Amino acid sequence: MNGSPFIKACRGTNDGRIPIWIMRQAGRYLPEYRAVREKVSFEQLCKSPSLIAEVVRQPVQRFDLDAAILFSDILTIMDPMGVPVSFPEGGPVLANPVNGPDDVAKLKPYDPALELTFVFDGISEIRKVLPASPIIGFAGSPFTLACYLIQGKGSSNFDKPKQFLHKYPAASETLFNFLVDIVSRYLEEQIKAGADTVQLFDSWGGILSQDDYRHWSARPVQEIFRRLKRYNVPRILFVNNVAPYLDIVADIDCEVIGVDYRCDIARAAAALPHKAVQGNLDPAVLFGSKESIVRQTGSILDSLSTHDNFIFNLGHGIQPGTPVESVYTLVETVHGFQRSTA
Ligand code: CP3
Repeated sequence: MNGSPFIKACRGTNDGRIPIWIMRQAGRYLPEYRAVREKVSFEQLCKSPSLIAEVVRQPVQRFDLDAAILFSDILTIMDPMGVPVSFPEGGPVLANPVNGPDDVAKLKPYDPALELTFVFDGISEIRKVLPASPIIGFAGSPFTLACYLIQGKGSSNFDKPKQFLHKYPAASETLFNFLVDIVSRYLEEQIKAGADTVQLFDSWGGILSQDDYRHWSARPVQEIFRRLKRYNVPRILFVNNVAPYLDIVADIDCEVIGVDYRCDIARAAAALPHKAVQGNLDPAVLFGSKESIVRQTGSILDSLSTHDNFIFNLGHGIQPGTPVESVYTLVETVHGFQRSTA
């Protein structure tokens, strides 16, 4: 896998084709994914290694994408803690949310190697159906996981977790240490099962003040990455709304920063001189005309002064209802991009 454009770009040594993968590339915008989901629930799908491999394969082969991301959810790790999660229409719901220090004390420590075998078996199955594709393992960042644990469901501002950190600082430290341990072990096992790289999704870090971001988002992420360093796989951090924290993430020891669609990608690249960058077309652009997709994709590519360390992606997950034709246009535009030799 080390010779693939994706892994080379992660390491800043890509001198050929610009790689592209798409956040949430397996999902409801694809008719073949919907056909699988007609037969099984999302929860059943996440627990079946052979179906995991099937839905991971679908977009990679259809669009000729440069990486395969494990199919699972950032909330899969909650159940063995004693917090069952369900996924009704409209987003995840957690049965026993964390309301105070007593609930933190009740969370059950566990070994992901024993409780989440279906994920690691899923990675082995993906390797069988996609022998040449780099596999991306992933987990939620401790702050993003804490958001769901404390709020108990999705939210537009996650006011409860923000208040919790200030109301219960000691219990918050205990909670975050617990999440750092689980996530580090979980990603270690994904790497042992065959993941060629790992991405942390910090989907909600972008709602924090500078000080809180440093303490509750960047610091636990740094600790997880420190524990994974010895495996020598590229470590990717995606932060949704990264712009206010570029100088903070620049100091995190990892190879790649995923940039959301709000931030100018050239500005991010300039602020992150020692890292690869990944991003950041607005997923909404894929609802526009072919010409507009080609133009806006080209403008991201043209704005970068170097492409050796660039991975094309959307600036957040692809949305249900996205026309499949738009994805072909996007991938062809990225793969067809010729940098000027001037
Ligand atoms: O990218 C991929 O193809 C891999 C699969 C993947 C899923 N979730 C599958 C999924 C990944 C990487 C995730 C990460 C995830 N899950 C995040 C971080 C990324 C982000 O969007 O910021 C978050 C915050 C979650 C939590 C979550 N899971 C939400 C908010 C939802 C509901 C929203 C929605 O899109 O419906 C889910 C459910 C979910 N996870 C679905 C999929 C394909 C939809 C379930 C279905 O098939 O009905």
